[in-house]
Amino acid sequence: LKSVNVAELRRMRAAGEKIASLTCYDASFALLEDRAGVDLVLIGDSLGMVMQGGTTTTPVTVDHIVYHSRCVAPFLKRAFLVADLPFLSYATLERALDSSQRLMQEGGAKMVKLEGGREQASIVEYLATRGVPVCAHLGLQPQFVHKLGNFKVQGREDEAAEAMLHDARVLADAGADLLLVECVPASLGRRITEQSPVPVIGIGAGAETDGQILVLQDILNISPMVTIGHKPRFVKNYMAGAPDIEAAIRAYVDEVKSGAYPAPEHCFADAVANKAVAAA
Ligand code: KIV
Ligand code: NA
Repeated sequence: LKSVNVAELRRMRAAGEKIASLTCYDASFALLEDRAGVDLVLIGDSLGMVMQGGTTTTPVTVDHIVYHSRCVAPFLKRAFLVADLPFLSYATLERALDSSQRLMQEGGAKMVKLEGGREQASIVEYLATRGVPVCAHLGLQPQFVHKLGNFKVQGREDEAAEAMLHDARVLADAGADLLLVECVPASLGRRITEQSPVPVIGIGAGAETDGQILVLQDILNISPMVTIGHKPRFVKNYMAGAPDIEAAIRAYVDEVKSGAYPAPEHCFADAVANKAVAAA
């Protein structure tokens, strides 16, 4: 079984094979995800919510990500392990390098992910030129919760969409090997993917990105958010009709591969299109 790496992700993009990605935080699920054919496993700072019970990701530390990476890494035979750089752990070049070193050497990550646009280009370049593969997370950036005040779909206005397209180009030019786009209109997800020289994974970014990612507990219908009735539009419950957890994860992988997920009901429309519909 050949393990997934950066070259394989590029091959999948070129071949039009969708990249099925899922978050993971422990051994039991790591084994199941790997067996179920998940291509990319993320140790997300979403663990602040689904593991630690917080309402944001900002309390998550490098220690926490390293701990969960170590729980997962030994059980991945094929899947590619990406780990989140948590809040402020990449605020300077030196901190970014130290944090990435820990995620890779102690945690076993093969790539690190950071949030932000063109303002992160120098950090991305600094890491990439030292052998650290980087995923740049665009669109909705949960680590900015205290500045944003709330979460909403990003890139709906023309100006914001153009800015994000520019950010995506700058980050890829700086050496990012993967882009992740969260909560944008499907049309913007498509445009970012079309212009990108590297693979693009989406969450709430429409059906035309090179792959999809969701939070494990969301697809199993057990995350605190889902339980208290705040299911994001892009989340689908794969436990519905599944005999067990492995089957649910397999169903998710199959639907990402076939393109059945995301369906239109999981995607965000353009604000302009919405206005036109409202006016009609
Ligand atoms: O932390 C996380 O789980 C993430 C994904 C939702 C993309 O960043
Ligand atoms: Na994250």
